[in-house]
Amino acid sequence: MPNEIAVDYDGLIPNNVGLNADPRLRRALEQWHPTYLDWWKDRGPEGFQDNLVYLRTAVGVDQEGWAKFGYVRMPEYRWGILLAPQVEGRTIGFGAHKGEPAWQDVPGEYRAMLRRLITVQGDTEPASVEQQRLLGATAPSLYDLRNLFQVNVEEARHLWAMVYLLQKYFGRDGREEAEDLLRRRSGDRDSPRLLGAFNERTPDWLAFFMFTFFTDRDGKMQLHALAQSGFDPLSRTCRFMLTEEAHHMFIGQTGVGRIVEATCAAMNKAGIDDPHDIPRVRALGVIDLPTIQKRANFHFSLTLDLFGSELSTNAANSFNAGLKGRYLEDQIDDDHVLSGATYPVLRLRDGAVVKEAVPALGALNMRLRDDYVADAASGVERWWNRIIERSGIDFRISLPHVAFNRRIGEFAAIEADPAGNILGAAEWARRRDAFLPSADDDAYVASLMRPAREPGQFAAWIAPPRTGIDNKPGDFEYVKLA
Ligand SMILES: [Fe+2]
Ligand SMILES: [Fe+2]
Repeated sequence: MPNEIAVDYDGLIPNNVGLNADPRLRRALEQWHPTYLDWWKDRGPEGFQDNLVYLRTAVGVDQEGWAKFGYVRMPEYRWGILLAPQVEGRTIGFGAHKGEPAWQDVPGEYRAMLRRLITVQGDTEPASVEQQRLLGATAPSLYDLRNLFQVNVEEARHLWAMVYLLQKYFGRDGREEAEDLLRRRSGDRDSPRLLGAFNERTPDWLAFFMFTFFTDRDGKMQLHALAQSGFDPLSRTCRFMLTEEAHHMFIGQTGVGRIVEATCAAMNKAGIDDPHDIPRVRALGVIDLPTIQKRANFHFSLTLDLFGSELSTNAANSFNAGLKGRYLEDQIDDDHVLSGATYPVLRLRDGAVVKEAVPALGALNMRLRDDYVADAASGVERWWNRIIERSGIDFRISLPHVAFNRRIGEFAAIEADPAGNILGAAEWARRRDAFLPSADDDAYVASLMRPAREPGQFAAWIAPPRTGIDNKPGDFEYVKLA
């Protein structure tokens, strides 16, 4: 295969993988396509399918100008298959095969492991589209409505990216996996999505922004780890997906940031300086900061579960095999084999949380999770606390302890408060609503969810953005509703 294939944008499926020269693959994808469209119409955004939406579409893979903006009806979006350029002479960067040429084909001994990694990643992509499908009805502005749909079409494109790998490299099993990706349903009792957080509801826009901040950030970490893969097609696919993922992160951090901004501005205007005076703050029609904190506690703890158990032989095996590396593996200064290395892990010992050094190979999930926590924490500071600080209100949003509200791993067996103090069952039950959103909090947020649909109009509980998408003016008609 030549190093660079120009993007073929004329066919049914835009691609830079030479689809025209691979009739078997093209047939497989063309067979999958109608089922995919049925899935999109059935489980994608409810309503708005005939409206023109100002979306960006990936049309190339170079740093400059990889995307173009324009009005598109979502079912006509050009979902394509785009890989980052091949790096000449790339070698495997870690594990038992370190230094060998990167694989251009599936290494037979690791076939099952690789297929599983791709399937699990692939399953999260349509899942989030399903979770967000009802939000269009209550969008706080046309700008936000457009951002929701941008995330949705890109997550769907990520599904295409994983389906491409399955169909191109895994024969019949791959085609079956690709069909199953369209068969499972988020939250379905009989056939749920593979990972817990992707079966939760996304009932309102605060949940959507928290999801894109916390849960899409897990996606970013997983894609980074897979971008290091010795299986070159997976690495190239994930490298390109990361360019899209950055925008999802942006939507989450600015979305919550704009909510925080509206709250602080309304409090200042009304002369309220106690952020815990919730009835008075809510009377202003904005979301009180303690409720935002509780939502952050919920989404953060739920997302930590996606990293799996702290100690994992699966993670060790896929690292040894050269299939999934660490976050920024190629920038870490060590032997990339982890022979004899240790890593500190928080564990539960005799009813207390203690730090223990364990073999680093077994603790790779933990390491990725630590990198995630650091990334999320710096986002909270930069995007949310800075806004509160500038407003002069005495409040800080902080991430809860990793032992808080967990269902998977070391701390699933206990309850802890957000500071990490272990609580008995009775005390947890008594104080739970101080840590996590109560039914009352959720009902209040739900009461605010009324659509704002005039160009330039924003719901009172969220501030307008600093700049428009693609530098459009504040009253730009991001979605044509007529
Ligand atoms: Fe994605
Ligand atoms: Fe995403």
